[in-house]
Amino acid sequence: MRTVDRMDDAGSFAARIVEWQRRAGRSGLPWQGTRDPYRIWLSEIMLQQTQVSTVIPYYLRFLDRFPGVDALAAAPLDDVLAAWSGLGYYSRARCLHRAARQVIEQHGGRFPDDFDAVLALPGVGRSTAGAICAFAFGQRHPILDGNVKRVLARHSGIEGWAGEPAVLAALWAESTARLPRAVAGGHPDIGTYTQALMDLGAGPCARSRPRCGECPVSADCAAHVSGRTDAIPAPRPKREIPRRASVVWLLVDREHGVLLERRPPSGIWGGLWSLPESIDAQVEARIRASDAALQALAPIEHAFTHFRLRIEPMLVRMHLVNGQDPAVTAQAAEPGRRWVAFGQLEAVALPAPVRTLLEALRADGQGVQPELPGLR
Ligand code: ADE
Repeated sequence: MRTVDRMDDAGSFAARIVEWQRRAGRSGLPWQGTRDPYRIWLSEIMLQQTQVSTVIPYYLRFLDRFPGVDALAAAPLDDVLAAWSGLGYYSRARCLHRAARQVIEQHGGRFPDDFDAVLALPGVGRSTAGAICAFAFGQRHPILDGNVKRVLARHSGIEGWAGEPAVLAALWAESTARLPRAVAGGHPDIGTYTQALMDLGAGPCARSRPRCGECPVSADCAAHVSGRTDAIPAPRPKREIPRRASVVWLLVDREHGVLLERRPPSGIWGGLWSLPESIDAQVEARIRASDAALQALAPIEHAFTHFRLRIEPMLVRMHLVNGQDPAVTAQAAEPGRRWVAFGQLEAVALPAPVRTLLEALRADGQGVQPELPGLR
């Protein structure tokens, strides 16, 4: 690691990246140009695991639906999950909802401007709290998201994987030491400085083939100067990603739509409406007795953080089963399950691959046009 005169280096590093951000950084994003902490908090939560271009339409729709923390806190969780549907990592939406209620109950409905109170909100970690306080309140706090880790690791020449506690601690120390010097508790440029770090990471300081010619701090970047931008930061050590497979039942009925089941509150897709992984044994026996009603669809692969899931959908046309016994449709809807018309799916919180599957089925005519050949 390089040794530097921290005070001088912090000043010049900050000044250069602030100047660069104003000239070449991102501007005009929907969460820029506001100091409303609710809007900033929402953007930072959405941006935690999702890229800017994906977030923008969700962000605008979400604000339309929940314009303030009071509207969010008053809404049922289901509505919040429905607005989040497709963004993934749904624990973010559940935490957001819990946090909104915390703001109402513990802070009288006013978003807190104290770092520790922001950090205490569900779903807000140290870096997110720092970004919110910098953007909304002009407070001087370090940030360290994935992109910023890369910028700082390269510039400081920090070797090793950021998942190692010692490496992470070194990165936080760098992020803190490089803050623009304090002016009356904050800094007039702290928002621009924070955005500059994010923009460098999302732009010139890309993971592969960084564009060091565009970077305002490449002259003293340890990785650039030593020709080691491909080795710093060190990648996560390789590990086998476990694979799982799951059969899901896609029960489609002419009158009732598709049978959905609410997932348990925690775990993957917690609280969302998905397709049942098992069905009542008697219903299953009826279905299996009616060969024509059952069709295995092409499997879908979905990557989660810690494993890959292969979803094997079994399409069941209930009216073919019902030819033998019309009571089966009602019997399939056990507690925690409901029939949803294809036209109503928009308003239901569905995991993205399930939505894609149902939309494809609907486009195919199997969800809404039972008179198509082969469906009778
Ligand atoms: N990623 C996290 N926060 C961001 C922000 N405010 N602007 C752009 N990308 C971000």
